[in-house]
Amino acid sequence: MSAESAIEVRDMAIVHRTFRAAYEESACLVEAEVTPSEERVTFLADHVELGLTLLHGHHHSEDEVLWPTLLARAPDEAAMIQRVADQHQEVAAAIERTEQALGAWRATSGAAEREVLAGSLRELNVVLQAHLDDEESLVVPLAARTLTQEEWNAVGEHSRGSIPKDKLFIAFGMLLEPLSDADRTYMLSEVPMPVKLLWKTLGVRSWRKYAIRLRDAP
Ligand SMILES: [Fe+2]
Repeated sequence: MSAESAIEVRDMAIVHRTFRAAYEESACLVEAEVTPSEERVTFLADHVELGLTLLHGHHHSEDEVLWPTLLARAPDEAAMIQRVADQHQEVAAAIERTEQALGAWRATSGAAEREVLAGSLRELNVVLQAHLDDEESLVVPLAARTLTQEEWNAVGEHSRGSIPKDKLFIAFGMLLEPLSDADRTYMLSEVPMPVKLLWKTLGVRSWRKYAIRLRDAP
């Protein structure tokens, strides 16, 4: 596909949808139990950690692949690209504060630590939403006009490569769960056939079990 023609870029907003929901949900889940079992704390802490790892991987792909390509293709827009790219530093600082709070809660299960963690997840959520808004309204349309489909797809491929292999089904579940059938079909069309088959034969069931444990715990 030529750089002049519009390309398919809807996967960015689709992926963002998961990030937009993940941290508020995590904060609510962390707050839900006053005296959670050790097993529940470990399970939830692992879930929060995965949410942070996925966001870090997503942003790392944009840092490594998207910004350099966009700057090369659209130098006239360098100021805007750099401004949105720099927002990653603020998000990274919020991720770091959340990781620290997560480590403290995981170690102690304490009420104070729980509140700090929930608060840091919500702070991350606020910083992130503003960044995702800018990315979707400014960066994605520019990319659609200036990048080839191959250049755009390289960002998603880089990001998928950063998902921990033992968490692949959970990550897929988090991503695909809120989507319409059409968007789900589109996102699955972007992954290699063996991964898609694995998801359909094993992954869906595995995710549903995980989601019940995540949300319907006593
Ligand atoms: Fe993004």
